[in-house]
Amino acid sequence: MKFFIHTFGCQMNSSDSEHIAGMLLATGMTAADSPEESDLIVVNTCAVREKSEEKLYSLLGRMESLKKKKGILIGVIGCVAQLHRSKLWDKKPFLDFIIGPDNYGQIPQIIPARTKDKVLMTQWSEDWHDLPVQQISRESDVSAYITIMEGCNNFCAYCIVPFTRGREKYRPIQSILDEAEGLASQGYKEIQLLGQNVNSYVDPGTGKNFAELLKDMDSISGIEWIRFITSHPKNFTADIAQAMKKASKVCHQLHLPIQSGSTSVLKRMNRGYTRSEYLEKIILLRKLMPDIHLSTDIIVGFPGETEEEFQDTMSLLEQVRYTNIFSFRYSSRPQTAASKKKDDIPFEEKKKRLIHVQSLQKKIQFEKNKRMIGQIQKILCTGKSKKDPLVYSGRNAGYQVVNFNSDEDVRNRFIQVRITACGPYSLFGEIA
Ligand code: SAH
Ligand code: SF4
Ligand code: F3S
Repeated sequence: MKFFIHTFGCQMNSSDSEHIAGMLLATGMTAADSPEESDLIVVNTCAVREKSEEKLYSLLGRMESLKKKKGILIGVIGCVAQLHRSKLWDKKPFLDFIIGPDNYGQIPQIIPARTKDKVLMTQWSEDWHDLPVQQISRESDVSAYITIMEGCNNFCAYCIVPFTRGREKYRPIQSILDEAEGLASQGYKEIQLLGQNVNSYVDPGTGKNFAELLKDMDSISGIEWIRFITSHPKNFTADIAQAMKKASKVCHQLHLPIQSGSTSVLKRMNRGYTRSEYLEKIILLRKLMPDIHLSTDIIVGFPGETEEEFQDTMSLLEQVRYTNIFSFRYSSRPQTAASKKKDDIPFEEKKKRLIHVQSLQKKIQFEKNKRMIGQIQKILCTGKSKKDPLVYSGRNAGYQVVNFNSDEDVRNRFIQVRITACGPYSLFGEIA
């Protein structure tokens, strides 16, 4: 039997799909190269924006004909499964299973053995369950994800994640360190710690916090780069900033989503910090680590966002000068507090604001990238260009993509690259 996993959404979904692939391989199934060649299709879903859900339904529309033709098993897992549960069958009656993020452990028992009954599993448990780590089928041989916590207690007014991933729960620190040790012994060089709100991590046994976890991670020999995502500004303490500076393997790179540069919008979003409190953290980070690369998330067109409030976001971008940003038009999500307010910024206005944000950031990034020309940077090479076999691709410590030429196969290695050219979204170089 062959399986195919289609993954939408965040790094945690990518990581979950690697776990599920591993579990299916362990049952004796094999991975298919395309949905057409498979007997089982698992769609791992994201519900965070309206668009993410729309993409899912259009994919499922295409898969329905495959189902009719070949009678394969098709199911949906992840955040949309958790959100809509059995109601998904009203929309897509042909689905064979609907499984939420807290039920992946049962996949090897239910899916391959299933013959005719549909399966619904979306129960939540408050306790942490470890999925087996020995069999994870990881995409990369050099960079790995480790989930340290799941869920979110913050209830930002716009966000659906607390309704799909449940309340925060934390993985025991020993289990995290064991997985990291195992990865180091297999030759992995980079670890990305994952969680919806990593800064609120506490080890259920010892009470160690995120800063202490970073310190412990730093002592694992073999690992050279450690990163983490996502940080909530409200929980990002001076202790964490100090731990980042002290831990020699923690990259000087941080994704710190602000969402809006306006204190009044932040209040309506229930973010728990003001513009100036956020900026104080940025000042501290840059004081401790002058070379730090910062990135953020921005939402434009949150209900009631005035032109003046929007301009606060523009001025914040000018002030912080991020290395990179992810920006989105607000979309109303079911069950959230903001969905009870009128989605009153017209679509065209949201579109215009998004273009303003993105063009300002494009200009900032291009200026910053141009200043890197001539620098020699440490790059972790993760892949090769499909179009040109002499072009390799990797990331620098700031998590920027760097493409470079090499006659030698340097995949899965650290190399020194001299930056020779750039665009606003990419850096190019040559082996130094
Ligand atoms: N746990 C992470 C992930 C949240 S989802 C975090 O807290 O950062 C990633 C980004 O999607 C958010 O930071 C936000 O910018 C955006 N987002 C979330 N809900 C949204 C919505 N309803 N409309 C538009 N963007 C949204
Ligand atoms: Fe969503 Fe806010 Fe939680 Fe992030 S912190 S997952 S944006 S509710
Ligand atoms: Fe999407 Fe769920 Fe991740 S809603 S962003 S897949 S936590």
